[in-house]
Amino acid sequence: MRTATLPSFAPLSGAAEADVAVIGSGIVGLSTAWELARAGMSVVVLEAAALASGVTGHTTAKITALHTAVYDTLRSKHGDDVARQYAASQSAALRHVIEVSGELGIECELERRPAFTYCEEPEGVDALRAEADAARAAGLNASFVTATGLPFPVAGAVRVEDQAQFHPLKYLTGLVEDLVALGGRLHERTRVTQLDDGDPCRLTTDSGATVTARHVVVATHHPVFDDALLATRLSQHRDLVIAGPVPAGQDPEGMYISEENGKRSVRTSPLADGGRLLIITGEAFTPGTGEDTEAGYARLQSWAEQHFPGFSTAHRWAAQDNSSTDTLPLVGRLPAKGDNVYVATGFAGWGMTGGVLAGTIIASLVRGDEDPWGGLYDPGRVGSAVRSAPTFLKAQWDVGKHFVKDRLETLGDGTNGPVEDLRPGEGTVVRAGGKPCAVHRDDQGELHAVSAVCTHMGCVVDFNNAERTWECPCHGSRFGIDGEVLQGPALSPLERRDPTDL
Ligand SMILES: Cc1cc2nc3c(=O)[nH]c(=O)nc-3n(C[C@H](O)[C@H](O)[C@H](O)COP(=O)(O)OP(=O)(O)OC[C@H]3O[C@@H](n4cnc5c(N)ncnc54)[C@H](O)[C@@H]3O)c2cc1C
Ligand code: FES
Repeated sequence: MRTATLPSFAPLSGAAEADVAVIGSGIVGLSTAWELARAGMSVVVLEAAALASGVTGHTTAKITALHTAVYDTLRSKHGDDVARQYAASQSAALRHVIEVSGELGIECELERRPAFTYCEEPEGVDALRAEADAARAAGLNASFVTATGLPFPVAGAVRVEDQAQFHPLKYLTGLVEDLVALGGRLHERTRVTQLDDGDPCRLTTDSGATVTARHVVVATHHPVFDDALLATRLSQHRDLVIAGPVPAGQDPEGMYISEENGKRSVRTSPLADGGRLLIITGEAFTPGTGEDTEAGYARLQSWAEQHFPGFSTAHRWAAQDNSSTDTLPLVGRLPAKGDNVYVATGFAGWGMTGGVLAGTIIASLVRGDEDPWGGLYDPGRVGSAVRSAPTFLKAQWDVGKHFVKDRLETLGDGTNGPVEDLRPGEGTVVRAGGKPCAVHRDDQGELHAVSAVCTHMGCVVDFNNAERTWECPCHGSRFGIDGEVLQGPALSPLERRDPTDL
């Protein structure tokens, strides 16, 4: 985000009309908007914050069809055909990025690299042999190897040739410039708070502005309008990321991921001074479940120092993605919202190819063409997705309920102990006037208090000590210390409380 400058746009005011309204401007929203504008449609993009400042602005941007160990899973859950279609569609998205950036002349640090899924422990080798076999059977140029470019030994790895990495915001800047040239309209700081589906559909924003559009694309990452309860088929995981210059002689010259140690992902990117930046991701956790994120950063740092001697962190950040119950992302018509509303979500940490692919699929459907992948990602699909939903829903509610119940039972009343004991930078949930209240003490010693009840569906939020945010364990909504929505599906802020009442 420091090395790309996207253009800025004013919030929407008044009433607008368009063929298509796209809600959200991550890689899904901007890819879809651009595909549709290129097809001659009038498009308006509405973004709650700044362009591409959501997950897309915090990704690690490997563009690859090797998604950790997805092929063995797909093969066993859905069969060989689905695994083949998945590989073909994700590879098509990779080619599409290369073609589009070439066609538009976008300088986005696009580099071809092999992708690896590796393990350090011998126990992981059988699974990776099976993945190499499944990925090859699905049509990828995959092999099992024991030598990689990493500066430490691995027990084994799947290697897939000719994948890529890029600077996602530079790529999207190119798309936005072309989108504007094609007549596309974009509005930042414009949160959509209501979607009335129909023909046409009508959107209302937080400032009361409206958009009337024949088609609406819900590209908000977690779907914010979700009558079909897709949330029950999605789980959240948040990752920590650290980055710093690559120590001399240790550029691994590839893109790596491992499921060990709560996940480790490694890639490099070019720096302006001719050096390279090492980007390391890991310590995946479910947001809002009491994880000590500072301790997570410390573990990631220590792993980085051990595996890349001389590494020191220059930047750190965190971001979250969601995964679907049946492994396949959800892309297509949004169930229970008529024929003209579309959604794309559930990329399981692979939304660069997934987001670009979603743009091509949704653009086909909006144009009235066939889904190029025959409904592989259709959110309304029947089969294992739907069959697995009740079990998953129950499991998810059980986890959420227990977590919330346990916490409510142990809440202090805030009149003594917890709040007085809060040190600068800390946060806690207490009971105030019988209701859960989220309290944070800032670096100046001032208390900030908000309702601890998530405005999405009522779960109780928890404090993230590294990011100083309130996070919801149920569907991953995130709020600032004064309650503002940082990430949906919640649409409204946490209610402010008066800290002097505690
Ligand atoms: C740490 C990390 C590393 C990753 N690395 C990779 C990788 O190497 N390769 C890969 O393929 N994938 C990777 N991913 C996954 C990928 O980044 C995501 O799947 C992808 O960016 C999701 O894009 P999106 O457009 O769906 O969401 P977002 O980029 O979050 O866009 C959604 C937008 O909608 C806006 N919005 C939300 N609600 C509203 C509303 N009501 N009104 C208006 N706007 C709204 C938000 O502000 C946001 O800008 C990674 C993910 C993480 C967390
Ligand atoms: S995100 Fe759904 S209840 Fe909080």
